[in-house]
Amino acid sequence: MAANEKVKLLDKEFEIFITSEKIDCAVAEVAQKMNENLKNEDVIFIGVLNGSFLFAADLYRKLEFDSQISFVKVASYMGTSSTGNVKRLIGLNEDVRNKTVIILEDIIDSGKTIEDLVKQIKGYEPKSIQIASFLFKPDAYLGTLPIDYVGIEIPNDFIVGYGLDYNGLGRNLPHIYKIVE
Ligand code: IMP
Ligand code: MG
Repeated sequence: MAANEKVKLLDKEFEIFITSEKIDCAVAEVAQKMNENLKNEDVIFIGVLNGSFLFAADLYRKLEFDSQISFVKVASYMGTSSTGNVKRLIGLNEDVRNKTVIILEDIIDSGKTIEDLVKQIKGYEPKSIQIASFLFKPDAYLGTLPIDYVGIEIPNDFIVGYGLDYNGLGRNLPHIYKIVE
């Protein structure tokens, strides 16, 4: 399907940025690297809801080795005044002990969410933790953890589509759109 050049969600306008064809290629490249690197590992993928559900589904179908997949959510709650807004992990029921955990994210922006997640998953004593994010904003990233698998690096713009939302809308768009300032 040809991409609409522009979409409107609530009060904001968005313009086409990454087509579904480019998305497919980027997912295939990540899958190929994982097929090479992870075939001898005892892997559990952990998708971070809501945004990662499309990336996780597309990627997982392209993986040729045996692995498990599960999904978690992060809930924001106010910690003590010194820690500020901490993201708490909910929904991890599977045993990840001694397994290679690959976290699947839709996008990494400041890196705060992934940092909180990695800290909490470490408590379950996995063998190792790696991070795969479909999109990565290097100019916004304030973290120190390496992002092991990146689909596409993007500039520091607000985007929607392919699982990503603006106020809950736009996740179903097959292409990725960026905000028109
Ligand atoms: P971080 O903690 O700053 O890395 O933010 C990560 C989360 O913010 C992502 O999982 C998204 O839910 C959301 N987010 C960051 N950038 C965007 C964007 O451009 N569009 C939609 N959601 C975004
Ligand atoms: Mg997310």
